[in-house]
Amino acid sequence: MTHHAASFDHWIRTSFVEMNTALENLYFEGEDRAQVEGVGDAIKAELRDAGHAHVVELLKEGNTGDGFESAFGVLGSVGMYMGALRRHELTNPAREQRSPFAEASALALHVGSSLGMAPRFSTGHLATHNTAVGGIRKSFTSLPDEFLFIDENTRGILALQTAADAMRRIVPLGVSSPVADFLFGVAKQALRETLRFNQRLFDSLNIERFFYCVRPYYKPYRVGRQEYRGANAGDFSGINELDLLLGLCRASDPYYAQLLVDKMSFMLPEDQARLRTCMTYRSLLDEFLDVIDASSHTDWFQRNVAAFLEVCDLFGQTAAQHHDLLVKRFIEVPAATLAPEHLSGITASGPPLPVLMRALEVLRDSRTAAPRPDIPTRHADIAYLKGKLRSATEGGV
Ligand code: HEM
Repeated sequence: MTHHAASFDHWIRTSFVEMNTALENLYFEGEDRAQVEGVGDAIKAELRDAGHAHVVELLKEGNTGDGFESAFGVLGSVGMYMGALRRHELTNPAREQRSPFAEASALALHVGSSLGMAPRFSTGHLATHNTAVGGIRKSFTSLPDEFLFIDENTRGILALQTAADAMRRIVPLGVSSPVADFLFGVAKQALRETLRFNQRLFDSLNIERFFYCVRPYYKPYRVGRQEYRGANAGDFSGINELDLLLGLCRASDPYYAQLLVDKMSFMLPEDQARLRTCMTYRSLLDEFLDVIDASSHTDWFQRNVAAFLEVCDLFGQTAAQHHDLLVKRFIEVPAATLAPEHLSGITASGPPLPVLMRALEVLRDSRTAAPRPDIPTRHADIAYLKGKLRSATEGGV
C-alpha cells in the first residue's frame, strides 16, 4: 500500500468513524431521528474536508499499479467516504445531476474500472474482504449494532459460500457419485450455520439503531453523473451459485438473468468469474430429473436425492428467514412509521419499498420452490423428485 493509500485507510478507521458516530448520536437524540439536515453541520464539514484532502492526494498519485488488495482497499475507502456524504445529506442523487464531489468520483471511477467493479463500496469491502487490523475492521461507526450487523452478515456470507463451494464440487463428480455424501453433508452443516447466524441477528440487533444509524449508509449515490445502487449483503456470488447449482433459479429465466447481470459489477472479480462458470453448468436438479426413470430404484439415487432435497430445504429456510424475519423486522415494519418525506431512498437499490418487497418475494418463493403459477418455480419438479424416494412411497416423507 502506498503512503497515501495507507494514510486514507488509517483515517477511515479512526477519525471518520469517530465523526460518523458523533453525528449518529446527535441524530438519534433528536426529536425526529430521520431529520439529518441542519444537524451537526460543523462535524459534517470536517468530515467532508478531511476526506477530500486524502482523495486529492490519491488522485494526484494516479493508478500506482500497487496490486489488487491496495486498489480494492482504496475503492472501499473512497466508497465509504462517499456513502457517508450521502448519509449525512451532503449529497443527494434526487436533487443533483452529478455528484458534487468531483475528485472523489474521479478516484472511484478510476480505481473501480481498473478493478472491473462498480465505482463504489460494496459488500466485499465490509464483509469478506474487510481486513481487520488489531481486531478492528472497517466500519462507518463504532456503534455495537453496526459491528453486530457487519459480523453476522459476514458469517452468513461465509457459510453460504461454503455451501456453494461444496455443491460446485459435485459437478465434476456427477450426481451418482458415492462421495457426494460428504459434500451434501458440508452444505447442510453450512446452511444450518446460516440459519443460526440469521436468528442471532434477528434476536440481538436493535431495530431503531439499525434502521436509523446503520442502514442509511447503504443508500444509492452518484459517482460522476451516474447513480449507483447501494451495497447489500447479497453482493457475493455464493447465493446465486446455490440458486443455479441446486436448480431453483435458472440463468435462462430473463428475470433472474437480469438480476445476475445487474449485480455482477458489485461483486469481486473472483466472484464474477465463479458466477459465470456456474452459469454454464447444468443444475443438480436437472441431472437427477434426467435419470429418474432409469435410476430411481437404485441406492445411490435414493441416498443422493434425499441429501439433495435436504440441502434444498435448508436453503429455502434461509431464504424464508431473510425475507419473513430480517427484512420484515428491520426494514418493512420500521419504514411504516416514517414520515412520507423520509421514505425516498429507503432501499439500497432505490425502488419504492413495496416494489423491492415483491422482488424479494420472487427470490424467496423460487428458493423455497413454492407453488406460484405466476413465476417459474421448481415446485412441481421438486415434488416429483420427492415422490420417487422410497420413504415417500412408504409414507415417510
Ligand atoms: C438485519 C439483517 C438484514 C436485513 C434487514 C436485510 C435486508 C435486505 C434488503 C432490504 C435487501 C434488498 C436490498 C435492496 O435491493 O435494496 C437485501 C438483499 C439481500 N440480502 Fe439481506 N438483509 C439482512 C441480512 C442479510 C444476511 C445476513 C444475508 C446473508 C448472509 C443477506 C443476504 C441478502 C441477499 C443474498 C440479498 C440479495 C437479494 C437476494 O439474492 O436474495 N442479508 N437484504
